Amino acid sequence: MNVERPHPNPLPRRGGSPPGGQAGQGITDSDWAGIRGDFPLLTRLVHDKPLVYLDSANTGQKPAVVIEAIDDFYRNHNANVSRAVHALGAEATEAYEGSRIKLAKFLNVRGDELVLCSGTTFAINLVAYSWALPRLRPGDAIVLTRMEHHANIVPWQQLCARTGAKLRVIPVDDDGQVRLDEYAKLLNARTKLVSFTQVSNALGTVTPAKQIVAMAHSAGAKVLVDGAQSVSHLRADVIDLDCDWFVFSGHKVFGPTGIGVLYGKEALLNETPPWQGGGNMIKDVNVNDGAITLTFGNNASKAPAVNPEVAVNGAVNVRALHNILRPGATLVTCHLLSFSHLAKPLTEPLSCWSQSPS
Ligand SMILES: Cc1ncc(COP(=O)(O)O)c(C=O)c1O
Repeated sequence: MNVERPHPNPLPRRGGSPPGGQAGQGITDSDWAGIRGDFPLLTRLVHDKPLVYLDSANTGQKPAVVIEAIDDFYRNHNANVSRAVHALGAEATEAYEGSRIKLAKFLNVRGDELVLCSGTTFAINLVAYSWALPRLRPGDAIVLTRMEHHANIVPWQQLCARTGAKLRVIPVDDDGQVRLDEYAKLLNARTKLVSFTQVSNALGTVTPAKQIVAMAHSAGAKVLVDGAQSVSHLRADVIDLDCDWFVFSGHKVFGPTGIGVLYGKEALLNETPPWQGGGNMIKDVNVNDGAITLTFGNNASKAPAVNPEVAVNGAVNVRALHNILRPGATLVTCHLLSFSHLAKPLTEPLSCWSQSPS
């Protein structure tokens, strides 16, 4: 069901870029200097030239707010989250859970619909092995598009090899657009899941995500949207998309590596068993005559089964992400620095390369 919820975090605009117009338009030189100034690494020289970084689709450079948040955490608040009762533990947990709320607003969902995990690849595997594996039967189908990142192909291919399900691939046309007519032909009662990217990492294609989701649902299939490339370019509104899962990685929205998010509709998360065992999901452990009885907490399926080290990393990293995602200049900075928006402002630095191919 598509619940109408106004987005709580409207994207601010800088420099008068018109809605729907090319981002970057109307940005002054001093705006660009300020944007570069947010990223300490952009002050260094490479081959004696000011650094121009065009690999943000691969991973984003880190703004000072992120670097400072990590530094601040280890200097002032370091403790494990959710398991330490002392003051630092409370601070770390508050930072971690506060970030969950921030992320939820960013995606226009609720905090308890999010699994904080290590990234897109992990999140896709989590859905594949915890939700899909027990449900797939020989002859069932998983549908992908022709332009998926390997992280959204390999787990499904492995799952098909284990279950006898088939992978079906939607072709793209010569312009890199999804062939919806061909997609319609692939959908039937055996289609259990459609998993596709909202923005292609290879082609930059923005897929007609709402339509793909709606078509899958009308065939009775669940849908995972890979938001790894879209969250830095498009408004992330998962409720509007109405997908069943939405995944992305922190490092592509200028956060640190090793942090990511899986959104799942509540009913689906509730029916999904934990994929990996670990401490956070457990309410009680009883050992009687050598036999161990576990009592799972209510949120067992939602708890990433993390070891303490990962939990601490999560606290640090999510806290950093929290800073990035606060409404305001930084998010706009990230938005403007995305590759497709750079063509005009970077004409000058890029010409340095052609003058001096050292
Ligand atoms: C569209 C897409 N999906 C998934 C991934 C995998 O992301 P990660 O390596 O952060 O898990 C990438 C990384 O480039 C990507 O571009």
